[in-house]
Amino acid sequence: VARDSIGVGLLGLGVVGSGVARILLERASTYRERVGVPLILRRVLVREPEKTRAVELPADLVVTDPRLILEDDSIDIVVEAMGGLKPAYELLAEALTRRKFVVTANKEVMATHSSELLGIAQRSGVDILFEASVGGGIPLIAPLKRDLLANEITGLSAIINGTTNYILTRMAAEGITLEDALSQAQALGYAEPDPAYDIEGTDAAFKLAIMAGLAFRTEVVPSQVYREGIGRLTPRDFRYAAELGYSIKLLAICRRDDGVIRARVHPAFLPADELLAKVDGVYNAVQIDGDLTGKVLFQGQGAGSLPTTSAVVADIIDCAHDIALGIAQQPQWRINPNAEVGGMDDLETRYYIRLTVADRPGVFAEIATQLGKNMISIASVIQKEADETAQSAEIVIMTHRSRESALRAAIEDLSALDCVFEVGNYIRVEG
Ligand SMILES: NC(=O)c1ccc[n+]([C@@H]2O[C@H](COP(=O)([O-])OP(=O)(O)OC[C@H]3O[C@@H](n4cnc5c(N)ncnc54)[C@H](OP(=O)(O)O)[C@@H]3O)[C@@H](O)[C@H]2O)c1
Repeated sequence: VARDSIGVGLLGLGVVGSGVARILLERASTYRERVGVPLILRRVLVREPEKTRAVELPADLVVTDPRLILEDDSIDIVVEAMGGLKPAYELLAEALTRRKFVVTANKEVMATHSSELLGIAQRSGVDILFEASVGGGIPLIAPLKRDLLANEITGLSAIINGTTNYILTRMAAEGITLEDALSQAQALGYAEPDPAYDIEGTDAAFKLAIMAGLAFRTEVVPSQVYREGIGRLTPRDFRYAAELGYSIKLLAICRRDDGVIRARVHPAFLPADELLAKVDGVYNAVQIDGDLTGKVLFQGQGAGSLPTTSAVVADIIDCAHDIALGIAQQPQWRINPNAEVGGMDDLETRYYIRLTVADRPGVFAEIATQLGKNMISIASVIQKEADETAQSAEIVIMTHRSRESALRAAIEDLSALDCVFEVGNYIRVEG
């Protein structure tokens, strides 16, 4: 079908939406050349039309009723930058049902409802693109869907939340507490007033669910992602990590071992010379292991108005191209609906364990006995400073590869010992 223009309806005019609106208007002539016909922003949905925005739009473009976008036949592409599940999911489902292409930046919707949305898109002969939902401006979705298609992907490790990476970078560099690093992040606008969504690993788990689904061509939902936030990390953990040659990062990891996919988000020790260990501040990075490519690393700004706009607008241009040429993309990448997603019990990795113990002879033998009973073998032990008044000492143990279920049982047994005053922390060691 020959088209003389392609209409865009935008849902949301916040951080991402205003970047998208601005760039579509400013670069209209460039994009016209790239698409072949003009790409026209026809309507923008907001809650409060009176609000001052980062972009100035003609007043008749801004609406508060989504029907004016969904029912407008001159709108071919619905771009969602509202966030949240409701009403975003229903609006996107209806847009697809009405045979509109959809571009979304919404990780929550894509992590939770991608199967339904992909199904509707396929039945309607349109497509839903979501590059901006993971890693802001970093190309991740397209490489996973397309460029790495010839590979068997064996695993993926990522630093995918800028807020927590900023906090951990400050804790490592300055020896400060989580609370102090969080205050710094909030003062700079890198953390929300309510930081739970980032600190507890929820944001990273949504993004990992999306990437894991693409990497293994199956469905991985957020409830299948094991999740542990950064709340238990202390300045001591950072000090000992540095002494032992490690960085501490909040990692999002997905691997397939013996046919079982395991997806997890948790703090981890990473050897300081690994690529991911050097990704600092608000930067994100994703390392993908392909059987043909070996390790491939994608790094860049995982959030922010313009980096995210870059991903959204690329998806818009991609859809516009297909519409202009009359191609309906068929999202065929999810071909393995019954892949087994496993829990944590059978995970095998190494661990760092920090204990406060009684400062007296024989204590180490008691601890070693409990670990041995649970089949956990010790790679090294360091006794850290003793506190003479409390008659306690701190011990740091690095284990060999052990099963997660065994480690948990051992931690319980250790907590029950009279000579163990406190299990300060235990952290998985990767790489
Ligand atoms: N910010 C980033 O760096 C970034 C990066 C990657 C992905 N994302 C994703 O992009 C999406 C948008 O994020 P954002 O940071 O741009 O959010 P934001 O600044 O809070 O903007 C949200 C926009 O959506 C509008 N909106 C929300 N609910 C609405 C409703 N029920 N009806 C009509 N309008 C509604 C708001 O209207 P009002 O302005 O009138 O309130 C606002 O303009 C989220 O899914 C987010 O996860 C963001």
